[in-house]
Amino acid sequence: MASTQALSHVYPLGTRINDAGHIEVGGCDLLDVAERFGTPAYVVAEDDLRARARAFVTAFEAAGHTDFRVIFASKTFPATAVMGVFAQEGLGCDVASAGEQHLALAAGFAPRDLVLHGNARDDQEFELALRAGVGLIVLDNFDDIARLARLASGPQPVLLRVTPDVRGETHDKISTGQADSKFGLGLDDVREAIRQLERIPLLDLRGIHFHIGSNIRELTPFRDAIAAVADLGDFPVYDLGGGLGVPYLACEAAPSIEDYVGEIVAAAHELLGPDKRLLIEPGRALVANGTVTIYRVVSMKQNVSTWVAVDGGMSDNLRPMLYGARYEADIADRPGGETRVRLTGKHCESGDVLIDDALLDEPRVGDLIVVPVTGAYGHAMANNYNGVPRPPVIFCRDGEARAVVRRESFDDLTARDL
Ligand code: LLP
Repeated sequence: MASTQALSHVYPLGTRINDAGHIEVGGCDLLDVAERFGTPAYVVAEDDLRARARAFVTAFEAAGHTDFRVIFASKTFPATAVMGVFAQEGLGCDVASAGEQHLALAAGFAPRDLVLHGNARDDQEFELALRAGVGLIVLDNFDDIARLARLASGPQPVLLRVTPDVRGETHDKISTGQADSKFGLGLDDVREAIRQLERIPLLDLRGIHFHIGSNIRELTPFRDAIAAVADLGDFPVYDLGGGLGVPYLACEAAPSIEDYVGEIVAAAHELLGPDKRLLIEPGRALVANGTVTIYRVVSMKQNVSTWVAVDGGMSDNLRPMLYGARYEADIADRPGGETRVRLTGKHCESGDVLIDDALLDEPRVGDLIVVPVTGAYGHAMANNYNGVPRPPVIFCRDGEARAVVRRESFDDLTARDL
């Protein structure tokens, strides 16, 4: 029996159950999308991306702060179509490598709107950034300072990345604000870095950057980090990083974009002064909830558990395996349900379990499974394990579906062989 319960709030904005009883994303029936583009596929509600981008901008305006920039952390969903949406919405772009810089420029961002990050950039990466005219280069360590000073031939605006010794509650692998982090300079070292930069006229120190970690679902650590950098000096620019968490499960909540921006603006006004240029680098909060992954059930098995195996897995979503990340799922034409199953992938190892305790409506081979909240770091960390081609990215808007990244082919798997 199909359940009539409403869909979880973690689905893309505008998702609904249509008259046929099927899940519809961006006005597109997911059964039709699967029929047309195959499975697995990342299905993106384009309007959801735009709405969240606008929510960040509006939230700054509502908080009474006009000198700001919202910078998309492109590592979360480095597809030029997704990046292009944020370029159109007037955001800047955070790139963590020369490759992401290449993607951002291809997506339509102006070089001056890019912020380059990294803890291990070689000469070539800096040269490419300098040649392109990247707006801000964030310096992570003393080697960065020496390397960029050697390579720069004209004035280059830079920020210094600080590790504020603040730990938000999140998975260890994605926590970066603690003193023992591989990113940034500690509070003492950064004072020395500031002194060094004063003696290098071509490197124009505009301000301070921190990023305390990812998927943080409380606001206090962001305020604590602002407090920690407040006495480093008086700079025109503060880049407060990304990190705002999102709900993955129906039972989870996260601060709203409005509450997050309100809190950081209030803390910045109080601790840094009201006249600072504030940058933020959201990734997950812009893209996670706007995407669902669709899979087809290929086989089932009953032993100690009930196993439901789909045509994807750890090649399209590594997050359950890397971080123990939890997801929920529905069958596209029978959302809800009470059958407890282990939703597993097609890969050759036991760790390839997407959801350990999925509740589905009496799943059968051939069913279309929908896993919401796969927009952040899904496509980004997809891989070809077991020779599985990576899925396409499908944009859905006003009932129109279009592929913006095609499915990989078997020929793609051998395309680099010499
Ligand atoms: N800024 C910097 C400097 C970052 O390193 C990151 C993420 C962000 C911004 C964006 O953070 P967000 O708003 O998305 O939390 N692969 C992991 C997440 C790694 C985060 C890396 N840095 C995952 O799937 O959870």
